[in-house]
Amino acid sequence: MHVLVAGGAGFIGSHTVVQLKNAGHDVTIVDDFDNSKATAVARVEALTDSHIPLHVFDLCDPDKTEALFAAERFDAVIHFAGHKAVGESVQEPLKYYKNNLDSTFSLLRAMATHGVRRLVFSSSATVYGDESPQPSQETYRPLQSSNPYGWTKVMNEQIIGDVARAGGFKVALLRYFNPVGAHASGTIGEDPQGIPNNLMPFISQVAVGRRDKLTVFGDDYDTADGTCERDYIHVEDLAAGHLAALEHIDEMVEPVRAFNLGTGVPTSVLGMIKAFETATGVPIPYEVGPRRAGDLPVTFADPSRARDELGWQTAKSIEDMCADTWRWQSANPQGYPG
Ligand code: UD1
Repeated sequence: MHVLVAGGAGFIGSHTVVQLKNAGHDVTIVDDFDNSKATAVARVEALTDSHIPLHVFDLCDPDKTEALFAAERFDAVIHFAGHKAVGESVQEPLKYYKNNLDSTFSLLRAMATHGVRRLVFSSSATVYGDESPQPSQETYRPLQSSNPYGWTKVMNEQIIGDVARAGGFKVALLRYFNPVGAHASGTIGEDPQGIPNNLMPFISQVAVGRRDKLTVFGDDYDTADGTCERDYIHVEDLAAGHLAALEHIDEMVEPVRAFNLGTGVPTSVLGMIKAFETATGVPIPYEVGPRRAGDLPVTFADPSRARDELGWQTAKSIEDMCADTWRWQSANPQGYPG
């Protein structure tokens, strides 16, 4: 297939592009480098020993998006492009609603005009809101979120589903749990701008000396060690989930299908710190602080639908996630250059 990867320079996009190329697909990337760097694409090209056509523009521009589809023939689209910082989305909700919905509108319109009817969409476990029983199952309703970023995922799922049903599209909505890790080469990985919000990038920046210590957000939850538990998934397993979705998308009996991508096994914050220290030999100084507003005690996936229908399951351990994150971070202490 010739796959358009929207947001292909980002953390999950770049790892997925490597696997798409290795599986023999043609890939074109569109990315505006708002939260990613051209170096990531250069490194993906080096890893795959190939040239990857790259278009640098904002997908919110419908004319540029239309022009790309008029010039190229795509068989499928994987849509990773979007803003993703929860805290910022609370401060600047319009920025999030505008960007994360307009980009989808442009893509869907161009896909419909040019008869491109396969779409894999980056959704998030955040759509299960704070009342879903655990583990989360795809059938849970109502989808909801506690912040504008999360609502853009709920809304995108709704909009994409409606358009797919009306227009004969096949869509896989992939609900990610907590993506971490990096490519085993250590040349591509997660490169957050500013102070990381998420646990793993914070741990690895402490390890490499960019931050003094980690603050553990609360140790008085009703969990085994008192800290929150999450379903961390290696980005390579996550990328493989996109390939599996693409390969099975034509067989899907329903036009729109949601799939959890997680391991099904939760790990606590203290468990993650310990695993990182064990895998890398680097101590992680931390202090316990107050709870972070909006955090749930425990979230994890029921990944059985993706296993049964996509033939996909995770292969990487927490140790792999830590060792691979560290290989990337220690080789690139300041992230990507340029
Ligand atoms: C967060 C978002 C979620 C988003 C996901 C993307 C919130 C409330 N949720 O999920 O919507 O889809 O990122 O990956 O922001 N922690 C610390 N210290 C830190 C950072 C995190 O103790 O410096 C703890 C958190 O309290 C949490 C766990 O580590 O218990 C994981 O946090 P994080 O990586 O931010 O992921 P989520 O909160 O699960």
